[in-house]
Amino acid sequence: MDHGRLEIMRAVEPFLEEQMPVLLRNPETNWQPSDFLPDLSSEEGFEQVRELQAEARELPEDVLVGLVGDMITEEALPTYASWIFPLEGVDHQGDPKTVWGAWNRGWCAEENRHGDVLNRYLYLTGRVNMREVEVTVQNLISDGGDTQTMNDPYRTFIYTSFQEIATRVSHLSVARYAEKAGASRLFKLCSRVAGDEHRHARAYSLFIEKFMEMDRDEIVLAFEDMMRKKITMPAMYMRERGKSIGETFKKFEYIATRSEIYTPRDYIDIVEQLLKRWDIEHLGGLSPAAQKAQEYLCQLPDRYRRIVERFKLRDPATPPRFSWLDVPERASI
Ligand SMILES: [Fe+2]
Ligand SMILES: [Fe+2]
Repeated sequence: MDHGRLEIMRAVEPFLEEQMPVLLRNPETNWQPSDFLPDLSSEEGFEQVRELQAEARELPEDVLVGLVGDMITEEALPTYASWIFPLEGVDHQGDPKTVWGAWNRGWCAEENRHGDVLNRYLYLTGRVNMREVEVTVQNLISDGGDTQTMNDPYRTFIYTSFQEIATRVSHLSVARYAEKAGASRLFKLCSRVAGDEHRHARAYSLFIEKFMEMDRDEIVLAFEDMMRKKITMPAMYMRERGKSIGETFKKFEYIATRSEIYTPRDYIDIVEQLLKRWDIEHLGGLSPAAQKAQEYLCQLPDRYRRIVERFKLRDPATPPRFSWLDVPERASI
């Protein structure tokens, strides 16, 4: 670990402490999963479940797969927390208490609602084989993932800036499909989850901006390194029962691209957004190495676009099947 990083992490703490009430919301007034789900303690609870099942019946299968994949990704939150705690400058198990530790706990606490609300919605739809989904969640948490960030706060927060936008795109796409299908409950809850992702993306990219004020060269170099390695997806190891690591993720990625829930074009748009947000193009006073990195970064969107224009989604030999959707047909509910 570069000691410069630790110093910078400490230097940003007062700013983070002051910003925390803006970056994170008060749990007592913020939305909670129950706000979007049938209230089974009320008389109308079961009627609401029937309505939920009726709207969910209208969802196309690809959207359902997208939603399950997004939910499984959210449910692997313990893995993501474990990526952030060991970073230099963040505390370990709350000791010593640092502002970065408080950020990570607060962020995880907000993220935890995403898996909860999606999981409960899907359970109530009756369209999903929950046991197989649960096996996939457990597999994913025990298999972990690889962000290629090497416990470096700069690389990690560049990664999270990217990923929060990517998850926002994915949840918003599902919300759009839900709206089209008349599934208003799902539309509302996915939109709210996407709203959280947006706020988190702004927070992480703000951290990078603060680091840049003091350590511009190193941020540009870290960004270049992450882009050369390519941003991996947090659920890259996703696998169903009896499958090998990543096998299910590949199928999920195919469906997400086919249905345009999340596509290579979105990847390019995110890179472009981050380049603009950090104004990489106009940074001056860089070291020769950082200048080279800057040049590399600025030509990336165009280069990716040329590749994507030639990209054709290749259909697998057999249409992908998911054990998640293995449920008996029901004549009526
Ligand atoms: Fe999330
Ligand atoms: Fe997130």
